[in-house]
Amino acid sequence: MTTDTLEQARQILQQARSVVCFSGAGLSAESGISTFRDTETHALWSRFDPMKLASPEGFAENPARVIDWYNWRRQTLALAQPNAGHRALARQPALIQITQNVDNLLEQAGCSPQHVIHLHGDITEDRCNDNCGYRERVDLQNPPPLRHCPRCDGWLRPAVVWFGESLPQREWQQADTLARHSDCLLVVGTSASVYPAAGLIHLARRNGARIIVINTQRSDASPLADLELIGPSGQWLPSLLQERQLSSTPN
Ligand code: APR
Repeated sequence: MTTDTLEQARQILQQARSVVCFSGAGLSAESGISTFRDTETHALWSRFDPMKLASPEGFAENPARVIDWYNWRRQTLALAQPNAGHRALARQPALIQITQNVDNLLEQAGCSPQHVIHLHGDITEDRCNDNCGYRERVDLQNPPPLRHCPRCDGWLRPAVVWFGESLPQREWQQADTLARHSDCLLVVGTSASVYPAAGLIHLARRNGARIIVINTQRSDASPLADLELIGPSGQWLPSLLQERQLSSTPN
């Protein structure tokens, strides 16, 4: 990786009118949050079975096991701090974040919740598994064990999207529109291997956006990249974003 690629990436950002950031688990890795498939660390799916812990079938089979696993992740998040990558993004208030991450580290770093689109939900909340509409924020340090929904007596479960479940409609529509109309998509810390979310990169590219990828290694986003900055996002983002204020909506 040479600095002239960084300079070229800065140039693309300087000329862009509507930049959008699309992020995955790698953005939070330097905060101590495990990724899912990263080959370099103990990624979650190399240690746990996603079908047993992150699917409606797994929850139906053993709801207490699923809640205990998410509560372990919640307690890890309770001890985590935003890293330099989150903070660099938070210094760009007009830059909209489309994230696959269910953590709240972008908001903790100072991103406006209105500018963070959680495609895969939010681990800091529980919701009714029977879709009665009940939701409540949980205490990440002392998350509640498996319990019934106070409104309809179904089970409460983390307000995250499990394998086989649909993405939240409003967030998906927002992300789809942003990807179609951006002229630069900053793809940070994602294997780009899970759809429909990863399809946003193809969508942006088909609509003429330049694609800048930041990752510690090559990924499924690499073939789509105009430029690839290989290395930790906590190192690249501060120097990449220092120049000027970016915006996701052309003024
Ligand atoms: N900086 C940048 N990239 C990093 C860093 C880092 N410090 N550390 C790891 N990475 C990269 C890895 O190389 C990998 O390509 O982050 C990527 C993480 O990929 P995944 O673990 O697959 O995470 P993600 O792409 O977010 O997964 C998408 O899959 O299981 C579902 O719901 C889950 O939202 C998740 C989705």
